[in-house]
Amino acid sequence: MEDFKSIISKNKGKVSLKDFKDYKVIGKGNDGSVFQLTPDRCVKVFGNEETKKLEMHAMQKGQSSSIIPRLYEHGPNYIVMEYVKGISLPQYLKKEKQLPEEIVEKILALFVEMKRIGFERIDTEVRHILFNEAMEIKVIDLKRAFGSVRTTPTKFIKGIKKKGYGNEFMYHVKNLNPPLYKAWKDSID
Ligand SMILES: Nc1ncnc2c1ncn2[C@@H]1O[C@H](COP(=O)(O)OP(=O)(O)O)[C@@H](O)[C@H]1O
Ligand SMILES: [Mg+2]
Repeated sequence: MEDFKSIISKNKGKVSLKDFKDYKVIGKGNDGSVFQLTPDRCVKVFGNEETKKLEMHAMQKGQSSSIIPRLYEHGPNYIVMEYVKGISLPQYLKKEKQLPEEIVEKILALFVEMKRIGFERIDTEVRHILFNEAMEIKVIDLKRAFGSVRTTPTKFIKGIKKKGYGNEFMYHVKNLNPPLYKAWKDSID
């Protein structure tokens, strides 16, 4: 298997997907393919260099926070970051078949932390919330963190509702943070 150093030294620091044919694929989305480099590092290879810049900007801003994967190195079309070993929120729900209060507490703290970092869009897809082995919450795929202002996580609420956990989520929000519940409840109708 060709090592990462020699891959990036080939073409002005740019990588191409075929360089990683022997690497384990962690995930694929619309904008990137993520490959495992080492037990605790992965590389996200972007189709579009502008998207890489957007994600890079948000990751740099987020390095003061434990909710953002560590950033190790980057090039024109890739970012090497911490591989979050654990499970995604959808995988958690599939396995546990419930959304307990302690998880909702972590999700609310995640949104508070995104705001503290200075993100403009305080929202995420359900699938972009990950938990590491210590059950610490992380958020990935940050390309939309800046560029539009959103204070209510409408995408998240829609997504959690679609998975059948909307009522459970809002029940815990009501207990944990009644004013927030009031502000959010209209967005689940
Ligand atoms: N740092 C990471 N640790 C663990 N898994 C990751 C990490 N980054 C991405 N993934 C996995 O790869 C998938 C695709 O990455 P994502 O950043 O969402 O790409 P895209 O921008 O194309 O949507 C994610 O949904 C997730 O399953
Ligand atoms: Mg994605």
